[in-house]
Amino acid sequence: MEKKPIKVGLWGIGRAGHNMHCSELDQFNDLFTIVAACDIDPDRVRILQEKYHCAGYTDGKQFLENPDVELVSIAVRSTEHVDYALKALKAGKIVFLEKPFALTPKGMEKLEEALKRYPGKLYFRHNRRFEAAFNHIRDIIDSGILGEVFEIKLRRHNYQSREDWQTLLDCGGGQINNWGPHLIDHSLRLLESPLESLWSDLKHVSSKGDADDHIKIIFRGKNGRVVDLEISNCILLPSDVYSVYGTRGTLVSHDESTLHMKYLDPAMELPKTHSSPGTPRWDSGYGDADTWPWIEKTIPVHPANGYKMTEIYKYLYAAIREGVPFPVKPEEAFAVIKTTAEIKKQNPQFRIQEDLFEGNEE
Ligand SMILES: NC(=O)c1ccc[n+]([C@@H]2O[C@H](COP(=O)([O-])OP(=O)(O)OC[C@H]3O[C@@H](n4cnc5c(N)ncnc54)[C@H](O)[C@@H]3O)[C@@H](O)[C@H]2O)c1
Repeated sequence: MEKKPIKVGLWGIGRAGHNMHCSELDQFNDLFTIVAACDIDPDRVRILQEKYHCAGYTDGKQFLENPDVELVSIAVRSTEHVDYALKALKAGKIVFLEKPFALTPKGMEKLEEALKRYPGKLYFRHNRRFEAAFNHIRDIIDSGILGEVFEIKLRRHNYQSREDWQTLLDCGGGQINNWGPHLIDHSLRLLESPLESLWSDLKHVSSKGDADDHIKIIFRGKNGRVVDLEISNCILLPSDVYSVYGTRGTLVSHDESTLHMKYLDPAMELPKTHSSPGTPRWDSGYGDADTWPWIEKTIPVHPANGYKMTEIYKYLYAAIREGVPFPVKPEEAFAVIKTTAEIKKQNPQFRIQEDLFEGNEE
Protein backbone atom coordinates (compact mmCIF):
# COMPACT_ATOMS: atom_id res chain seq x y z
CA MET A 1 0.00 0.00 0.00
CA GLU A 2 1.36 3.41 -0.89
CA LYS A 3 2.32 5.51 2.11
CA LYS A 4 0.94 9.00 2.55
CA PRO A 5 3.54 10.87 4.61
CA ILE A 6 2.29 12.75 7.65
CA LYS A 7 3.20 16.45 7.57
CA VAL A 8 4.92 17.37 10.82
CA GLY A 9 5.43 20.68 12.56
CA LEU A 10 8.06 20.62 15.31
CA TRP A 11 7.35 22.90 18.27
CA GLY A 12 10.59 23.30 20.22
CA ILE A 13 13.90 22.50 18.53
CA GLY A 14 16.11 21.86 21.54
CA ARG A 15 17.98 18.77 22.63
CA ALA A 16 14.81 16.68 22.32
CA GLY A 17 13.25 18.39 19.29
CA HIS A 18 16.46 18.65 17.30
CA ASN A 19 18.59 15.76 18.50
CA MET A 20 15.89 13.15 19.09
CA HIS A 21 12.77 13.97 17.03
CA CYS A 22 14.62 15.07 13.89
CA SER A 23 16.91 12.05 13.79
CA GLU A 24 14.01 9.68 14.56
CA LEU A 25 11.93 11.27 11.78
CA ASP A 26 14.89 11.15 9.37
CA GLN A 27 14.77 7.34 9.57
CA PHE A 28 11.19 7.36 8.26
CA ASN A 29 11.15 9.99 5.55
CA ASP A 30 8.72 7.83 3.58
CA LEU A 31 6.25 8.18 6.49
CA PHE A 32 6.81 11.76 7.69
CA THR A 33 7.77 15.11 6.16
CA ILE A 34 8.87 18.00 8.38
CA VAL A 35 6.93 20.92 6.88
CA ALA A 36 7.35 23.49 9.67
CA ALA A 37 9.41 24.27 12.76
CA CYS A 38 8.75 26.72 15.58
CA ASP A 39 11.10 27.91 18.32
CA ILE A 40 11.65 31.18 20.14
CA ASP A 41 15.27 31.04 18.95
CA PRO A 42 15.37 32.33 15.33
CA ASP A 43 18.79 30.76 14.68
CA ARG A 44 17.45 27.29 15.43
CA VAL A 45 14.46 27.92 13.18
CA ARG A 46 16.77 29.02 10.36
CA ILE A 47 18.91 25.89 10.67
CA LEU A 48 15.82 23.67 10.43
CA GLN A 49 14.49 25.63 7.46
CA GLU A 50 17.79 25.15 5.63
CA LYS A 51 17.95 21.45 6.44
CA TYR A 52 14.33 20.49 5.69
CA HIS A 53 13.27 23.30 3.33
CA CYS A 54 10.35 23.79 5.69
CA ALA A 55 8.43 26.81 6.96
CA GLY A 56 9.85 28.46 10.08
CA TYR A 57 8.24 30.41 12.91
CA THR A 58 9.16 32.12 16.14
CA ASP A 59 5.49 32.81 16.81
CA GLY A 60 3.37 29.84 17.91
CA LYS A 61 0.09 31.35 16.70
CA GLN A 62 1.38 31.77 13.14
CA PHE A 63 2.87 28.29 13.25
CA LEU A 64 -0.51 26.78 14.15
CA GLU A 65 -2.18 28.74 11.35
CA ASN A 66 -0.08 26.87 8.77
CA PRO A 67 -2.66 24.59 7.08
CA ASP A 68 0.07 22.22 5.87
CA VAL A 69 0.88 21.10 9.40
CA GLU A 70 -1.06 17.95 10.19
CA LEU A 71 0.81 16.69 13.25
CA VAL A 72 2.42 18.94 15.88
CA SER A 73 5.25 17.34 17.85
CA ILE A 74 5.59 19.28 21.07
CA ALA A 75 9.10 19.33 22.57
CA VAL A 76 9.21 22.70 24.30
CA ARG A 77 9.96 22.91 28.03
CA SER A 78 7.83 20.79 30.33
CA THR A 79 5.86 23.73 31.78
CA GLU A 80 4.31 24.48 28.39
CA HIS A 81 3.22 20.98 27.38
CA VAL A 82 -0.42 21.13 28.45
CA ASP A 83 -1.00 24.65 27.17
CA TYR A 84 0.60 24.02 23.79
CA ALA A 85 -1.13 20.66 23.33
CA LEU A 86 -4.50 22.33 23.92
CA LYS A 87 -3.67 25.16 21.52
CA ALA A 88 -2.60 22.75 18.78
CA LEU A 89 -5.67 20.54 19.23
CA LYS A 90 -7.90 23.63 19.09
CA ALA A 91 -6.18 24.57 15.82
CA GLY A 92 -7.24 21.19 14.39
CA LYS A 93 -3.87 19.46 14.61
CA ILE A 94 -2.97 15.98 15.74
CA VAL A 95 -0.60 16.24 18.73
CA PHE A 96 2.39 14.12 19.71
CA LEU A 97 3.25 15.27 23.23
CA GLU A 98 6.60 14.95 24.98
CA LYS A 99 6.83 13.82 28.58
CA PRO A 100 6.07 14.97 31.22
CA PHE A 101 2.60 15.21 29.68
CA ALA A 102 1.35 17.31 32.60
CA LEU A 103 3.06 18.54 35.76
CA THR A 104 -0.09 18.82 37.88
CA PRO A 105 -3.40 16.96 38.34
CA LYS A 106 -5.12 20.09 37.01
CA GLY A 107 -3.07 19.82 33.81
CA MET A 108 -3.95 16.15 33.53
CA GLU A 109 -7.67 16.90 33.80
CA LYS A 110 -7.33 19.36 30.95
CA LEU A 111 -5.71 16.68 28.78
CA GLU A 112 -8.43 14.19 29.73
CA GLU A 113 -11.11 16.69 28.67
CA ALA A 114 -9.22 17.45 25.46
CA LEU A 115 -9.04 13.77 24.60
CA LYS A 116 -12.83 13.52 24.93
CA ARG A 117 -13.28 16.60 22.77
CA TYR A 118 -10.70 15.57 20.15
CA PRO A 119 -10.77 11.76 20.15
CA GLY A 120 -7.86 10.06 18.40
CA LYS A 121 -5.93 13.33 18.11
CA LEU A 122 -3.62 13.23 21.13
CA TYR A 123 -0.68 10.80 21.38
CA PHE A 124 1.69 10.44 24.31
CA ARG A 125 5.41 10.06 23.67
CA HIS A 126 6.49 7.39 26.12
CA ASN A 127 9.40 6.55 23.82
CA ARG A 128 11.19 4.47 26.44
CA ARG A 129 8.23 2.05 26.35
CA PHE A 130 9.93 0.92 23.12
CA GLU A 131 13.30 0.17 24.74
CA ALA A 132 14.51 -3.22 23.58
CA ALA A 133 15.73 -4.46 27.00
CA PHE A 134 12.45 -3.51 28.71
CA ASN A 135 10.47 -5.45 26.10
CA HIS A 136 12.76 -8.48 26.10
CA ILE A 137 12.62 -8.70 29.89
CA ARG A 138 8.82 -8.60 29.74
CA ASP A 139 8.96 -11.51 27.25
CA ILE A 140 11.13 -13.48 29.68
CA ILE A 141 8.85 -12.76 32.63
CA ASP A 142 5.84 -13.86 30.50
CA SER A 143 7.61 -17.06 29.48
CA GLY A 144 7.60 -18.15 33.14
CA ILE A 145 11.20 -19.42 33.20
CA LEU A 146 11.98 -17.24 36.21
CA GLY A 147 8.94 -18.69 38.01
CA GLU A 148 6.73 -16.23 39.83
CA VAL A 149 8.44 -12.84 39.77
CA PHE A 150 8.20 -11.27 43.22
CA GLU A 151 10.55 -8.29 42.95
CA ILE A 152 12.11 -6.15 40.23
CA LYS A 153 14.78 -3.51 40.74
CA LEU A 154 15.16 -0.70 38.22
CA ARG A 155 18.20 1.55 38.42
CA ARG A 156 19.23 4.54 36.37
CA HIS A 157 22.38 5.74 38.09
CA ASN A 158 24.95 8.23 36.94
CA TYR A 159 26.81 11.23 38.25
CA GLN A 160 26.05 14.56 36.63
CA SER A 161 26.96 17.99 37.81
CA ARG A 162 23.99 19.38 35.95
CA GLU A 163 23.07 23.07 35.79
CA ASP A 164 20.35 23.50 33.15
CA TRP A 165 16.64 24.37 33.63
CA GLN A 166 15.92 20.70 34.30
CA THR A 167 17.54 21.20 37.74
CA LEU A 168 15.21 24.08 38.71
CA LEU A 169 11.82 23.54 40.36
CA ASP A 170 10.32 26.77 39.01
CA CYS A 171 11.11 25.60 35.47
CA GLY A 172 9.38 22.24 35.96
CA GLY A 173 12.73 20.48 36.39
CA GLY A 174 13.78 17.61 38.64
CA GLN A 175 14.30 13.97 37.85
CA ILE A 176 10.75 13.12 38.92
CA ASN A 177 9.60 15.17 35.89
CA ASN A 178 12.51 14.23 33.65
CA TRP A 179 13.33 10.50 33.86
CA GLY A 180 10.42 9.90 36.24
CA PRO A 181 7.69 9.57 33.55
CA HIS A 182 9.70 6.93 31.64
CA LEU A 183 10.48 4.79 34.63
CA ILE A 184 7.22 5.23 36.51
CA ASP A 185 5.60 3.97 33.31
CA HIS A 186 8.00 0.98 33.24
CA SER A 187 7.31 0.29 36.91
CA LEU A 188 3.52 0.34 36.47
CA ARG A 189 3.78 -1.99 33.47
CA LEU A 190 6.16 -4.36 35.27
CA LEU A 191 3.83 -4.67 38.27
CA GLU A 192 1.34 -6.46 35.96
CA SER A 193 -1.36 -5.62 38.47
CA PRO A 194 -3.07 -2.49 39.81
CA LEU A 195 -0.91 -0.41 42.14
CA GLU A 196 -1.70 -1.18 45.78
CA SER A 197 0.67 1.27 47.46
CA LEU A 198 3.85 3.24 46.99
CA TRP A 199 6.56 4.73 49.18
CA SER A 200 8.91 7.37 47.88
CA ASP A 201 11.78 9.61 48.88
CA LEU A 202 13.10 12.47 46.75
CA LYS A 203 16.37 14.24 47.49
CA HIS A 204 18.44 17.06 46.12
CA VAL A 205 22.09 16.01 46.42
CA SER A 206 24.51 17.29 43.80
CA SER A 207 22.94 19.26 40.95
CA LYS A 208 23.48 23.01 40.80
CA GLY A 209 19.73 23.70 41.01
CA ASP A 210 17.11 23.09 43.70
CA ALA A 211 15.11 20.22 42.19
CA ASP A 212 15.30 16.53 43.05
CA ASP A 213 18.21 14.59 41.54
CA HIS A 214 18.06 11.37 43.60
CA ILE A 215 14.81 9.38 43.67
CA LYS A 216 13.77 6.19 45.40
CA ILE A 217 10.28 4.76 44.86
CA ILE A 218 8.92 1.41 46.00
CA PHE A 219 5.75 0.28 44.25
CA ARG A 220 3.67 -2.68 45.47
CA GLY A 221 1.10 -4.27 43.20
CA LYS A 222 -2.14 -5.89 44.37
CA ASN A 223 -0.50 -9.16 43.26
CA GLY A 224 2.22 -8.62 45.91
CA ARG A 225 4.98 -7.88 43.36
CA VAL A 226 7.39 -5.11 44.34
CA VAL A 227 9.14 -2.77 41.91
CA ASP A 228 11.98 -0.86 43.52
CA LEU A 229 13.07 2.13 41.43
CA GLU A 230 16.05 4.44 41.77
CA ILE A 231 16.85 7.33 39.46
CA SER A 232 19.92 9.25 40.46
CA ASN A 233 22.43 11.71 39.10
CA CYS A 234 24.48 11.37 42.28
CA ILE A 235 25.96 7.84 42.04
CA LEU A 236 29.44 7.25 40.66
CA LEU A 237 29.41 3.44 40.61
CA PRO A 238 26.09 2.39 39.02
CA SER A 239 24.16 -0.74 39.99
CA ASP A 240 22.66 -3.16 37.46
CA VAL A 241 19.97 -1.44 35.38
CA TYR A 242 17.61 -4.42 35.81
CA SER A 243 17.40 -7.12 38.49
CA VAL A 244 14.44 -9.48 38.29
CA TYR A 245 13.86 -11.98 41.08
CA GLY A 246 11.59 -14.97 40.51
CA THR A 247 10.83 -18.13 42.45
CA ARG A 248 12.81 -20.22 39.91
CA GLY A 249 15.44 -17.79 38.66
CA THR A 250 17.13 -14.40 38.59
CA LEU A 251 17.87 -12.05 35.70
CA VAL A 252 20.21 -9.07 35.72
CA SER A 253 21.35 -6.60 33.09
CA HIS A 254 24.11 -4.10 33.61
CA ASP A 255 24.27 -2.61 30.12
CA GLU A 256 20.79 -3.24 28.61
CA SER A 257 22.44 -4.93 25.61
CA THR A 258 22.86 -8.34 27.26
CA LEU A 259 20.73 -10.21 29.82
CA HIS A 260 22.34 -12.57 32.32
CA MET A 261 20.10 -15.29 33.75
CA LYS A 262 20.37 -18.16 36.20
CA TYR A 263 17.30 -20.40 36.42
CA LEU A 264 15.99 -23.93 36.57
CA ASP A 265 14.79 -25.92 33.59
CA PRO A 266 11.03 -25.21 33.49
CA ALA A 267 10.48 -28.98 33.14
CA MET A 268 12.20 -29.63 36.48
CA GLU A 269 9.93 -29.99 39.47
CA LEU A 270 11.25 -28.21 42.54
CA PRO A 271 12.45 -30.79 45.08
CA LYS A 272 9.95 -31.24 47.95
CA THR A 273 11.69 -30.05 51.08
CA HIS A 274 10.62 -29.45 54.62
CA SER A 275 12.17 -27.56 57.49
CA SER A 276 13.08 -29.14 60.80
CA PRO A 277 12.94 -27.37 64.16
CA GLY A 278 15.84 -29.50 65.50
CA THR A 279 19.54 -28.60 65.88
CA PRO A 280 21.39 -29.21 62.55
CA ARG A 281 24.43 -31.51 62.37
CA TRP A 282 27.79 -29.65 62.32
CA ASP A 283 28.44 -30.80 58.75
CA SER A 284 24.93 -30.05 57.46
CA GLY A 285 25.84 -26.60 56.04
CA TYR A 286 23.33 -23.86 55.47
CA GLY A 287 21.18 -25.09 52.58
CA ASP A 288 21.84 -26.91 49.33
CA ALA A 289 20.35 -24.64 46.63
CA ASP A 290 23.71 -24.44 44.84
CA THR A 291 23.65 -28.15 44.09
CA TRP A 292 20.53 -27.79 41.92
CA PRO A 293 21.09 -27.98 38.13
CA TRP A 294 21.01 -24.23 37.50
CA ILE A 295 21.15 -23.10 33.90
CA GLU A 296 23.26 -19.97 33.56
CA LYS A 297 23.50 -17.96 30.38
CA THR A 298 23.99 -14.51 28.90
CA ILE A 299 21.91 -13.61 25.87
CA PRO A 300 21.82 -10.56 23.60
CA VAL A 301 18.79 -8.28 23.96
CA HIS A 302 16.34 -9.05 21.19
CA PRO A 303 12.66 -8.58 22.03
CA ALA A 304 10.03 -10.63 20.18
CA ASN A 305 8.13 -7.50 19.09
CA GLY A 306 11.32 -6.01 17.55
CA TYR A 307 10.80 -2.71 19.37
CA LYS A 308 13.60 -0.12 19.32
CA MET A 309 13.40 3.07 21.35
CA THR A 310 14.16 5.28 18.36
CA GLU A 311 11.28 3.90 16.28
CA ILE A 312 8.23 5.25 18.11
CA TYR A 313 7.31 7.39 15.10
CA LYS A 314 6.78 4.20 13.04
CA TYR A 315 4.01 3.16 15.44
CA LEU A 316 2.60 6.68 15.45
CA TYR A 317 2.27 6.51 11.67
CA ALA A 318 0.50 3.14 11.89
CA ALA A 319 -1.92 4.59 14.46
CA ILE A 320 -2.71 7.76 12.51
CA ARG A 321 -2.83 6.40 8.97
CA GLU A 322 -3.73 2.73 9.43
CA GLY A 323 -5.82 2.74 12.61
CA VAL A 324 -3.46 0.36 14.43
CA PRO A 325 -3.88 1.02 18.19
CA PHE A 326 -0.94 3.09 19.45
CA PRO A 327 0.99 1.02 22.02
CA VAL A 328 0.81 3.82 24.63
CA LYS A 329 -2.80 4.06 25.78
CA PRO A 330 -4.02 7.43 27.14
CA GLU A 331 -5.14 5.81 30.41
CA GLU A 332 -1.59 4.51 30.90
CA ALA A 333 -0.18 7.99 30.32
CA PHE A 334 -2.69 9.41 32.83
CA ALA A 335 -1.79 6.71 35.38
CA VAL A 336 1.83 7.92 35.25
CA ILE A 337 0.76 11.52 35.87
CA LYS A 338 -1.49 10.46 38.77
CA THR A 339 1.27 8.32 40.30
CA THR A 340 3.75 11.19 39.95
CA ALA A 341 1.28 13.49 41.71
CA GLU A 342 1.10 11.01 44.61
CA ILE A 343 4.92 10.92 44.81
CA LYS A 344 5.04 14.74 44.85
CA LYS A 345 2.43 14.72 47.63
CA GLN A 346 4.72 12.47 49.66
CA ASN A 347 7.63 14.87 49.02
CA PRO A 348 6.03 18.33 49.29
CA GLN A 349 9.38 20.15 49.33
CA PHE A 350 9.71 19.30 45.60
CA ARG A 351 6.21 20.29 44.54
CA ILE A 352 5.91 23.18 42.16
CA GLN A 353 3.39 25.89 42.81
CA GLU A 354 0.46 24.35 40.95
CA ASP A 355 -1.14 27.56 39.77
CA LEU A 356 2.11 28.71 38.13
CA PHE A 357 1.51 26.39 35.16
CA GLU A 358 -1.13 24.64 33.18
CA GLY A 359 -3.93 27.06 34.04
CA ASN A 360 -3.57 30.01 31.67
CA GLU A 361 -3.91 28.58 28.19
CA GLU A 362 -7.32 30.00 27.39
N1 LIG B 1 11.26 11.61 25.50
C1 LIG B 1 12.53 11.80 25.75
O1 LIG B 1 13.34 10.88 25.73
C2 LIG B 1 12.99 13.17 26.08
C3 LIG B 1 14.37 13.46 26.13
C4 LIG B 1 14.76 14.77 26.42
C5 LIG B 1 13.81 15.74 26.70
N2 LIG B 1 12.50 15.42 26.66
C6 LIG B 1 11.48 16.44 26.95
O2 LIG B 1 11.50 17.41 25.93
C7 LIG B 1 11.25 18.71 26.45
C8 LIG B 1 12.37 19.64 25.99
O3 LIG B 1 13.57 19.21 26.60
P1 LIG B 1 14.97 19.65 25.98
O4 LIG B 1 16.00 18.92 26.73
O5 LIG B 1 14.94 19.55 24.51
O6 LIG B 1 15.00 21.19 26.38
P2 LIG B 1 15.82 22.32 25.64
O7 LIG B 1 15.87 23.47 26.56
O8 LIG B 1 17.10 21.76 25.13
O9 LIG B 1 14.91 22.68 24.36
C9 LIG B 1 13.72 23.38 24.45
C10 LIG B 1 13.54 24.16 23.13
O10 LIG B 1 12.29 24.83 23.17
C11 LIG B 1 12.50 26.18 22.80
N3 LIG B 1 11.45 26.94 23.49
C12 LIG B 1 11.40 27.31 24.78
N4 LIG B 1 10.25 27.96 25.03
C13 LIG B 1 9.59 28.03 23.85
C14 LIG B 1 8.35 28.59 23.47
N5 LIG B 1 7.59 29.23 24.35
N6 LIG B 1 7.96 28.45 22.18
C15 LIG B 1 8.74 27.80 21.29
N7 LIG B 1 9.94 27.27 21.60
C16 LIG B 1 10.35 27.38 22.86
C17 LIG B 1 13.91 26.53 23.25
O11 LIG B 1 14.45 27.63 22.52
C18 LIG B 1 14.62 25.22 22.93
O12 LIG B 1 15.06 25.18 21.59
C19 LIG B 1 11.18 18.56 27.96
O13 LIG B 1 9.85 18.63 28.38
C20 LIG B 1 11.76 17.18 28.25
O14 LIG B 1 11.12 16.55 29.33
C21 LIG B 1 12.08 14.18 26.35
